[in-house]
Amino acid sequence: MTVKGFPEGFLWGGATAANQCEGGFDLDGRGLSSVDVVPFGPERMKVARGERKMLSCEEGFSYPAHEAIDMYHHYEEDIRLFAEMGFKCYRMSIAWTRILPNGDDDTPNEAGLAFYEEIFKLCKKYSIEPLVTIDHFDTPIALIEKYGGWRDRRMIDAYVKYCDAIFRRYKDLVKYWITFNEINMLLHMSFMGAGIVFNEGEDRQNVMYNAAHHELLASARAVKLAHEIIPDSRIGCMLAAGQFYPYSPNPEDIWDGLEKDRDNYFFIDVQARGAYPVWAWKRMEKAGVKIDWHEEDREVLREGTVDYISFSYYASRCTTADPEVFEKHQRPGNAVFKAVVNPYLKSTEWGWQIDPLGLRVTINTLYDRYQKPLFIVENGLGATDKLEDDGTVHDPYRIDYMRQHIEAMRDAVNEDGIPVLGYTSWGCIDIVSASTGEMKKRYGMIYVDKDNDGNGTLKRYRKDSFYWYKKVIESNGTDLS
Ligand code: BG6
Repeated sequence: MTVKGFPEGFLWGGATAANQCEGGFDLDGRGLSSVDVVPFGPERMKVARGERKMLSCEEGFSYPAHEAIDMYHHYEEDIRLFAEMGFKCYRMSIAWTRILPNGDDDTPNEAGLAFYEEIFKLCKKYSIEPLVTIDHFDTPIALIEKYGGWRDRRMIDAYVKYCDAIFRRYKDLVKYWITFNEINMLLHMSFMGAGIVFNEGEDRQNVMYNAAHHELLASARAVKLAHEIIPDSRIGCMLAAGQFYPYSPNPEDIWDGLEKDRDNYFFIDVQARGAYPVWAWKRMEKAGVKIDWHEEDREVLREGTVDYISFSYYASRCTTADPEVFEKHQRPGNAVFKAVVNPYLKSTEWGWQIDPLGLRVTINTLYDRYQKPLFIVENGLGATDKLEDDGTVHDPYRIDYMRQHIEAMRDAVNEDGIPVLGYTSWGCIDIVSASTGEMKKRYGMIYVDKDNDGNGTLKRYRKDSFYWYKKVIESNGTDLS
């Protein structure tokens, strides 16, 4: 049997986000950002969803983003380790408030610009292609105070100002960009995704869809601007992907799955095709949502379609139209996406269902829908690891998970012929979990000595998966043993 591999130049690598790895939240002129005030503990989800207002650091709470894994001071060592693994690509995000501390300053903060310039130069030195997320769960607090986050249209100009500063400064260093991380997360974690805190009694759907409209316009303007300033740039959108499967063949369940998928695809439909899908207007009308639509919006969206579709994939989702079945089989825990347990799949320690074939399904669905190149920019297993006395970490479960998902991606590329630009595994180095704020939920191939309470030396260790992934990259995905 011939094992086919991946196209030459396939971008193997890993991914992180500024707020989950950098720390140094108040250093060198950086302004406060939404993620800096999302606490660890039981209040985390309420704040992340915009259900509890916390716009500053309050007494009695701890905030994981403040130090994270202190990549602010460890980036040289970390990028050296990525290079040792053979990374061709490193996906990371820029913290908006390191560049514009108040979100819309006329003069960018030079220390912030210089920090990322150093990182990009280091990547170049190791022939690692940077892939930069412009906004990864990151809204400047000053703009939340001024405008209430993305519910206000004026956010668009602030975002474009930020884009202008980074595109001009990094035009010779960064070619691949992503406008918003998991843009559909706005519907599920509105504060994380859009800096929104809901007011008592307001129509949440109306607020969320107007915020979505603003982000979509901002994304479109960023695409146009990137192409003007960096003619050879490739700029994409980003979806928290994972298909909804019907719990049963009952047509009601099929329809329910289709509708739930549409909640998520709505964003990508606009970013990839440049217009709202017809059903979206009908749905919004039915829900009483009134979009603050301006005459010029049609053209802005049309002119700002993305070059590629990037997405995260951790699990598929399963749904039913029957409230009783839903109640009985609902996934346990405080899941971001409401779904029922799929009896055919195993779950991770955090209840995320493991479905490698679901990745092939997702790749095919996205390509059928958009016919644009795809980029898998997040995939991985959050698990508890044990650092042994001799400094090793044995994580065969992570290797298994990655192997099966890379195999599924390989099938999509080889058997289905779908253009995939690259694969950056999530949290290639252990970082703070976005949903739980834990350090214990580790995705990395590099272990970082730090626990949930913030104790630890921050020393880095290579896990078994580090050596395995190095071999995968060296063989361009042909050796997954
Ligand atoms: C995605 C985010 O939702 O999933 C990341 O883009 C996040 O920021 C990742 O860390 C994994 O989720 P979690 O909650 O396990 O960290």
